Amino acid sequence: MSFTVAIDGPAASGKGTLSKAVAAHFGFAHLDTGLLYRAVGREVLDGAEPVEAARELRKETLERDDLRTAEVAEAASKVAAIAQVREALVDFQRAFARRSGGAVLDGRDIGTVICPEAEVKLFVTASDEVRAERRFLELEAKGFQTTRAEVLADLRERDARDSARATAPLKPAEDAVKLDTTEMSIDQAVTRAVAVIEERLGGRE
Ligand code: CDP
Repeated sequence: MSFTVAIDGPAASGKGTLSKAVAAHFGFAHLDTGLLYRAVGREVLDGAEPVEAARELRKETLERDDLRTAEVAEAASKVAAIAQVREALVDFQRAFARRSGGAVLDGRDIGTVICPEAEVKLFVTASDEVRAERRFLELEAKGFQTTRAEVLADLRERDARDSARATAPLKPAEDAVKLDTTEMSIDQAVTRAVAVIEERLGGRE
């Protein structure tokens, strides 16, 4: 059985945490597609050419433990605006989405471009301030020196770039279920997402 859950949304909206929890709940595989762009961004910071880096993306780069920094996020968002970079990553993502046993993919264009046929599409948002607070606490816990104001400015700049690009801009698919997590705990968001998925799974039986 293949069953694809597409989870998109802006930076630090909670997609990652939600995707992991949902995948664990249903026993589905999970792909954080942001990590692919972060890995390409990392290689570009180290001097690689973006399209080549995407075409020959190395497993070692994906496994690096320094992909979650603000610097890499910015580099990721820049390479993600290059059409040939995105193209180079399509086949891998689509194959993952269709693996048997079910898959959850989170990113920016999963419901719109990568898997327009996904059985479930969620678009996760939260207010800018709440997203900045969550990312600030995450970075602080990892020992990075930053401020709330700096994190907020970084998120806004990245969202503006991701939304304005010509290729696969950040936007909800027409048939996506929107989930605003501003006032929700992670448990509440997971409960809501699980209910949406269960409804679709039930409809297939
Ligand atoms: O964790 P966060 O939401 O901050 O970012 P991420 O999901 O790791 O994505 C990092 C960057 O990769 C984004 O700002 C996008 O520019 C890009 N990205 C994309 O263009 N398409 C995707 N499917 C996933 C990420």
